[in-house]
Amino acid sequence: MRILKLSTAIAGLVWHQAAASAALPPPTGPYHVGLQKHVAPVLNEADPFWPNNISTSFLVTVYYPTTQDPSPHDWQRPYLDPATAALYEARYNLTTGSLSVLPSPGLIPNAKPLDFHRSKPLPTLFFTPRRRPPTEVYTLLLSDLASHGYCVLALNHPYEQPFVRYPNGTGIYGLPILYAWDEPTVLAVQSTRVNDSLALLDYLPNLEGETGLELNKTHVGIFGHSLGGSAAAATLLAAERERHDRTAASSFRAGMNIDGTFFGPLSAVQQPFLMLGAEAHGTSPDPNDSDATWPAFAAAQQKTTSAYWCWVNLRGTRHHDFSDIGYWKQAVPAIRDGDQQLGSIGGERLVEVWRAYVRGFFDVALVGEGDGGGAGVVGGGGGCGVA
Ligand SMILES: *[C@@H]1O[C@H](CO)[C@@H](O)[C@H](O)[C@H]1NC(C)=O
Ligand SMILES: *[C@@H]1O[C@H](CO)[C@@H](O)[C@H](O)[C@H]1NC(C)=O
Ligand SMILES: *[C@@H]1O[C@H](CO)[C@@H](O)[C@H](O)[C@H]1NC(C)=O
Ligand SMILES: *[C@@H]1O[C@H](CO)[C@@H](O)[C@H](O)[C@H]1NC(C)=O
Ligand SMILES: *[C@@H]1O[C@H](CO)[C@@H](O)[C@H](O)[C@H]1NC(C)=O
Ligand SMILES: *[C@@H]1O[C@H](CO)[C@@H](O)[C@H](O)[C@H]1NC(C)=O
Repeated sequence: MRILKLSTAIAGLVWHQAAASAALPPPTGPYHVGLQKHVAPVLNEADPFWPNNISTSFLVTVYYPTTQDPSPHDWQRPYLDPATAALYEARYNLTTGSLSVLPSPGLIPNAKPLDFHRSKPLPTLFFTPRRRPPTEVYTLLLSDLASHGYCVLALNHPYEQPFVRYPNGTGIYGLPILYAWDEPTVLAVQSTRVNDSLALLDYLPNLEGETGLELNKTHVGIFGHSLGGSAAAATLLAAERERHDRTAASSFRAGMNIDGTFFGPLSAVQQPFLMLGAEAHGTSPDPNDSDATWPAFAAAQQKTTSAYWCWVNLRGTRHHDFSDIGYWKQAVPAIRDGDQQLGSIGGERLVEVWRAYVRGFFDVALVGEGDGGGAGVVGGGGGCGVA
């Protein structure tokens, strides 16, 4: 800890020397975490960013529980792809190499899966990110869920995220991190994410074959950050609308929107749902800083569903805190100072609270166990209002 504070005091120039000491907090659960990447097929014929506007595949990063022990190398290997790290170094004007040396929190590529003959698989979680960071920038959250037994499938959409790398090594640069979005594009991208998630649900049996994992196909939770959170709600609605005659529709049993404005037609979802917002999300009296879709969604839930739903605002957080960037800011003042969308909450506290709410919700909504991880996400029927 002392070294971490020292690097805070000295500023970004020496960050890359201190970085090895500023490792991400490791996952907190009883399991170690395995990591695999796979390509899944989809057909999006109106994709705004793929060549010729037709996308045919997307990337699934699988975070899963394992009892295999990490090797020393698993604690030293950089956790970000070098190309992703370089894009974020440029975004925050950091010395080249400063993010690229951050070590993995013990994640084990292609680790041996758990033997589920002895313990049932916990539910499967689908995650899609904010418009910019690829899912590897959510390692803190996703690896923690896997360490507690969830199998997390994180979806990246090539040509949208700034950079993604296929398992065969092919790298694809997408939009610049600071790309300016208009609403039609946001809606089209949300549509690709809905289609990708529905395609992934159909693909789960194939993915079991490819990964050697036993996936829980009847209990699936879907969540995301920002546009990913809106897409989670839109996916639940699309599954209901388009798949009422298929078992697939009932596989999605819970959803969560982390700090995202809802895009597209707004209506209530039938599954338990958590709206996990930054401090001021949906509550600010300043019309320039408010999001009318949050009260509208809450009102729709209140009126039309008996499923549990909850709206929580986390004090001291802003929009970009809900990714690893919210932790990086603690050790790299240049990130904290260069990003208006990071709040005052300390990185370590953020990670602790954020992880507890997300897992607490899924434990209650999907597994039917726990009391919300001690984070206060408990209750039944109707909204819990603004915390
Ligand atoms: C998503 O799928 C629907 C239904 O097949 C299709 O109409 C829509 O164009 C697709 N979205 C995109 C962005 O291609
Ligand atoms: C792809 O879609 C975008 C946005 O809808 C459009 O501006 C672009 O012209 C399209 N490109 C091609 C090759 O069709
Ligand atoms: C790598 O995989 C992607 C996705 O399956 C494919 O489109 C691409 O052609 C592959 N590249 C090589 C060099 O095989
Ligand atoms: C909201 O934004 C507009 C345009 O940028 C500005 O003129 C106005 O003063 C802002 N209102 C508040 C309450 O900040
Ligand atoms: C990075 O440097 C550029 C050019 O000097 C400057 O315009 C920009 O505001 C800086 N960004 C950050 C996050 O410090
Ligand atoms: C999926 O998860 C649920 C909730 O934990 C559990 O009841 C169910 O048995 C699991 N499915 C399988 C096939 O193990």
